[in-house]
Amino acid sequence: MKTGNPLVLIVDDNSTNIDLLVNTLKDDFRLGIAKNGPKALDYIEKKLPDLILLDIMMPGMNGYEVCSRLKAVSRTKDVPVIFITAMSEAGDKTQGFELGAVDYITKPFHATEVKARVQTHLSLKKMREELSSQNVILEQKVEEKTAQLQEMLGATIRAMAMMVETRDPYTAGHQQRVAQLACAIAGKMGLSKDQISAIRFAGILHDIGKIRIPTSILNRSGKLLDAEFDMIRIHPKVGYDLLKNIPSPWPFAQIVLQHHELLDGSGYPKHLKGDEIMQESKILTVADVTEAESSYRPYRPALGIEFALEDIRKNRGKLYDSDAVDACLELFQQDNFKFE
Ligand SMILES: [Fe+2]
Ligand SMILES: [Fe+2]
Repeated sequence: MKTGNPLVLIVDDNSTNIDLLVNTLKDDFRLGIAKNGPKALDYIEKKLPDLILLDIMMPGMNGYEVCSRLKAVSRTKDVPVIFITAMSEAGDKTQGFELGAVDYITKPFHATEVKARVQTHLSLKKMREELSSQNVILEQKVEEKTAQLQEMLGATIRAMAMMVETRDPYTAGHQQRVAQLACAIAGKMGLSKDQISAIRFAGILHDIGKIRIPTSILNRSGKLLDAEFDMIRIHPKVGYDLLKNIPSPWPFAQIVLQHHELLDGSGYPKHLKGDEIMQESKILTVADVTEAESSYRPYRPALGIEFALEDIRKNRGKLYDSDAVDACLELFQQDNFKFE
């Protein structure tokens, strides 16, 4: 017997059976012996065997009871149990398997059969352990790769956002701040994690369509002409076209497309009304208006956060979604929300 050999615990109240099993297994396995149920449980408490050969009929606590106690505890539930007993009726076997035993050997047994079955179940146990440790390694690798990809995606999106903002320095950081506020509103409204992720990405890129608008219009001071406003109004559709082919579990291109739609149909580009507008877009609109009005623009000074909040409150339920407005007001007035 080598010290590295698997440890097999023999549980039997009959010394003759124990001797037979010891003689059969002693060359290939380390052996533990317990002469009744409670002693077996004590033994296992101190030393976890690789496999248990368990007699059923024992005075006091029988083998079924021992087995079900072992299966109820996470430390011992995966140790294979083979019942060895003189009972040979089908019902006994069924009960043994139902309790989680892996095999059943009836007395009188053949030494070679016992040895072969013990070896088989030990190999199976080893394979299960190797598989589960490989699974743990694989899961770790998948997690690492996913984190890397998410980082890359985040950096790419920020780079895209910066591209449009360098052409429009007065609104630098606008998209990031809108995304921050929109996510806070969505969180307050109890939207799902997935919806909030979609809003975050849509928020960071919502004005990317402005890349198609001449900088002379974007940076022009003073009131814009109608024709210039018409030009500005194309940016949700341009943004949608830029984003629509990016494979994503979230409909962020659609959210971007609808970020200037208003409840009464006076928005653009499609003049959608009420429920025709996605909830995520309605939230983005409230965040967009609040951030834009409170900040400086080339054609007007900063109006301030109080002005912005008064505007969304006034148009609550008319232009802007009531729930999103309520959440936004609460964030600023009660939760001390601040743009980063
Ligand atoms: Fe916009
Ligand atoms: Fe915007």
